[in-house]
Amino acid sequence: MVCMRRVCGETNEQCFFSRHLASFYHSFVGGFFVSVFSLFVEHIRLFSSSFLLLLKQRVSENDMRTFEIYTDGCARNNGRYGAYGGWGVVCPFNRSLDCYGFYNTGQQTNNRYELKAIKEALKIARNMRGRAHFNIFADSKYAINALTVWIHSWEERGWLTCKGTPVKNMELIQSIDDMIDELGHYGKTVELIYVKAHGSNVFNNEADGLAKRGAEENNIHESYYY
Ligand SMILES: *[C@@H]1O[C@H](CO)[C@@H](O)[C@H](O)[C@H]1NC(C)=O
Repeated sequence: MVCMRRVCGETNEQCFFSRHLASFYHSFVGGFFVSVFSLFVEHIRLFSSSFLLLLKQRVSENDMRTFEIYTDGCARNNGRYGAYGGWGVVCPFNRSLDCYGFYNTGQQTNNRYELKAIKEALKIARNMRGRAHFNIFADSKYAINALTVWIHSWEERGWLTCKGTPVKNMELIQSIDDMIDELGHYGKTVELIYVKAHGSNVFNNEADGLAKRGAEENNIHESYYY
């Protein structure tokens, strides 16, 4: 309105006209700037929200949900006549996923049941929705080394040990390795972590208890000769 005083020098009609012209001009130009401004704001908003989304994705990639699973396997009379075993899995994040069992076919060895327990843990990981990282704790150095270290040299040597004998539990190890690869395709990563047996880890001890319960329910020892 300050500029109006300068425009309204002459007659009332002129003043009236120029006042309306000015207000028209004002609203037009103003409207133009308002729309340019709001477009600008909208772009900023869109840009910042997509930036935030990107940031969120990055954060979730770095900070993926992590689940801990404890596994254990056992075999009574391991390596002897009448051996029988069981496996146990403990999921501290959802105790209703805890499970145990046994196999009434195949060799009943401690090492096999340690591997079987890890395989059962991977089945739980497979059944869960979405991307996630799984820390699988086992007290078997054999199982962890077989799946993370030795497997590479076994693959290179055509699944023969350095003595030239066939690698024990080859099919089981291969199927677990395939499962880990498959989980990777669904954005699920797996880490195998050693935990000391019969130590202070409550979940490892519970997994041990479940494995033993699995073995107790295993009726194979009544007929099986190892
Ligand atoms: C825990 O696992 C059970 C069995 O799969 C499932 O029904 C339940 O929804 C799970 N609970 C949570 C909180 O994820």
